[in-house]
Amino acid sequence: MKNILVTGGAGFIGSNFINYMVERHNDWYIINFDKLTYAGNLENLRSSENKNNYHFVKGDINNSELLEFVFNKFNIKYVINFAAESHVDRSILGAEVFIRTNILGTNTLLEIARRNNIEKFLQVSTDEVYGSLGADGKFSETTPLSPNSPYSASKASADMLALSYNHTFGLPVVVTRCSNNYGPLQFPEKLIPLMIINALNNKKLPVYGDGMNVRDWIYVLDHNKAIEKVFEDGSTGEIYNIGADQEMPNIEIVKLILKKLGKSEDLIEYVKDRPGHDRRYAIDSTKIQTKLDWKPEHKFEDAISYTIDWYLNNKEWWERIISGEYLQYYQEQYGNI
Ligand code: NAD
Ligand code: TYD
Repeated sequence: MKNILVTGGAGFIGSNFINYMVERHNDWYIINFDKLTYAGNLENLRSSENKNNYHFVKGDINNSELLEFVFNKFNIKYVINFAAESHVDRSILGAEVFIRTNILGTNTLLEIARRNNIEKFLQVSTDEVYGSLGADGKFSETTPLSPNSPYSASKASADMLALSYNHTFGLPVVVTRCSNNYGPLQFPEKLIPLMIINALNNKKLPVYGDGMNVRDWIYVLDHNKAIEKVFEDGSTGEIYNIGADQEMPNIEIVKLILKKLGKSEDLIEYVKDRPGHDRRYAIDSTKIQTKLDWKPEHKFEDAISYTIDWYLNNKEWWERIISGEYLQYYQEQYGNI
């Protein structure tokens, strides 16, 4: 049995990861350690909550006593660190919590992992640490770090700390850097779910600047299968970029969503640009494809349709979030965990 601490497993990517992996790996015992911030939602884990290879612990990755207790109690030998503040716009409004969770929290986790002689520590990171591209080129693992937002600066710091624990203490660290994810269970502050939900509610779709900023999109399950590969076969001290070669200007995605929902483009509203808005991201994932034999399996056209359908069929999930009812519902369903 592999006892794996998955932090941030109640968020978008982490919950998709757990729901998929508890079914797939009977030999994994997953302890989901999550603070349940505004972005953490135990409803995301309905399909896992009664499985006997899954357990939830509510906690903050800054809480070293609780972490030490959990490492001992569950004999943790593996860590996959998804826990983070993840939204660029929020980091522009206030960077402090990003520094606390993404940097200090990661350091606390690394320190406890070091003391407990763990066998692998996978740090889940982002292509945003590389900064912004012009019209050409892609980020490779050797592209110098040049983060531009408080979010990406905090993630770059965490990456460097994780790699320093490998270099200095021999902690078996691997780092993954993935491009923008989309799929079910994404909190509706991010571009794709926000646009789907606003369109369904006939509300304006706020497009920042000229709408020509480019992101490189990957379906969340492809990202999670890449994490699984790196977790199982990735070499210690290495960084692996993850991406699906699916670049799109924001405005094209917004128009596509409107078309698929049969809504008018009159709903589009160009608004003031995000300060410091990165122009273009594009990721070169040759390394993970050649060294670990991973490749993305989902075509954008299919997976975006599936994602839109998911939001259409799971109105209750997002209505509870956007109406602020979730906290009350959560307390009724789960009590004070
Ligand atoms: P999310 O915001 O949906 O979820 C984050 C989760 O972390 C939430 O469940 C939250 O409760 C938990 N959390 C926050 N602070 C915590 C703390 N102090 N202690 C314990 N738990 C805490 O984020 P996401 O989109 O699922 O991203 C997960 C990870 O993947 C992050 O590290 C992010 O940087 C990285 N990433 C995201 C993307 C993307 O497109 N969303 C792309 C590349 C990498
Ligand atoms: P986002 O989903 O916040 O991801 P990130 O900033 O981490 O890439 O935004 C994706 C792109 O969409 C980014 O270029 C900003 C843009 N965007 C809008 O134009 N309008 C919005 O309301 C949001 C949330 C994002």
